[in-house]
Amino acid sequence: MTDSNFLTREKIQTLELTAAAMVAKGKGVLAADESSPTIKKRFDTIKVESTEENRRLYRELLFTAPEIENHISGVILFDETLRQSAGDGTPFSKLLSDRGIIPGIKVDKGIIQIPETLNEKVTQGLDGLADRLDEYRQLGARFAKWRAVLSIGYHQPSNLCIALNAHALARYAALSQRAGLVPIVEPEILINGNHDIETCERVTQRTMGFVFNELSLQRVRLEGMILKPSMVTSGDACPEQADVETVARKTIKIFKRSVPSAVPGIAFLSGGQTSQQATAHLNAMNQIGSTPWELSFSYGRALQEQPLGVWKGKPENKAAAQAMLLSRAKCNGEARFGAYTPDMEPHWEMG
Ligand code: 13P
Repeated sequence: MTDSNFLTREKIQTLELTAAAMVAKGKGVLAADESSPTIKKRFDTIKVESTEENRRLYRELLFTAPEIENHISGVILFDETLRQSAGDGTPFSKLLSDRGIIPGIKVDKGIIQIPETLNEKVTQGLDGLADRLDEYRQLGARFAKWRAVLSIGYHQPSNLCIALNAHALARYAALSQRAGLVPIVEPEILINGNHDIETCERVTQRTMGFVFNELSLQRVRLEGMILKPSMVTSGDACPEQADVETVARKTIKIFKRSVPSAVPGIAFLSGGQTSQQATAHLNAMNQIGSTPWELSFSYGRALQEQPLGVWKGKPENKAAAQAMLLSRAKCNGEARFGAYTPDMEPHWEMG
């Protein structure tokens, strides 16, 4: 075994600095890494055709929004987007890093069914991953993301489903660190279902146990990664919805039980919460405070739904859509300090 198979001191230092910058105070990550089928779904809601050029124009709108660098530390890109450029020819990764925003890349290849389960899924994309990660770093990415998807249902998620996903997350995380990319480790427990918040608590704790066991087994440097989980909430079809304070309290309780303090930050996904809910929950958690890790955001829909609704594919709406993104980013930036109030909300209507 040669030394080159081990992380160098320099590489470890770079990973730790990048991870810390991703969860810098008052900032969070914009998840703009929708795959082609997912962005098509988003564009369908505003009746915009999902052509490569429309996707590029939309991403350019997001990445050039004035002042977002004050609240956005990093952006997760999709493979196609990392290879695209702004209208003036500047590659998106350079445009972002010139603004002090760290470019990242989604590297998983979606989910497939696990045999002998009730339609449970595992994330694929490990084959050839080491080479892809090297290329992404050359293209300017400094962090990566891999999403595992777990559903709550009758006897679900099974230990088999959690174990397979935890294994893949840790394999991906170790390979990312070797390539000099900070892994965002994303075990998403879907909000869909009529389960109560206590069920979500138990599933979250069981899942995090598997995930951190695998990360430890596979020698992932916890200081050089970011955890991106779902919050502990009631299922979206549960008749009794837990209030904001309960979500905040239970989320912190479960993560304190399961996430080592060496992890620099937890950047939550929004997972189908409304934009306002996602901000209010993050704010309430930061008001409770006293956590060993930063409590931040890595929102997709909760940052983009409103700007997308304003844009509607029309060039004349670009500035207003950018202003909407800035407002949303600012609200979440304030929530990082527990200083968000609903009167900071932008006024908008989805037409
Ligand atoms: P949402 O915030 O829309 O859940 O997206 C975050 C993400 O990156 C999902 O993988």
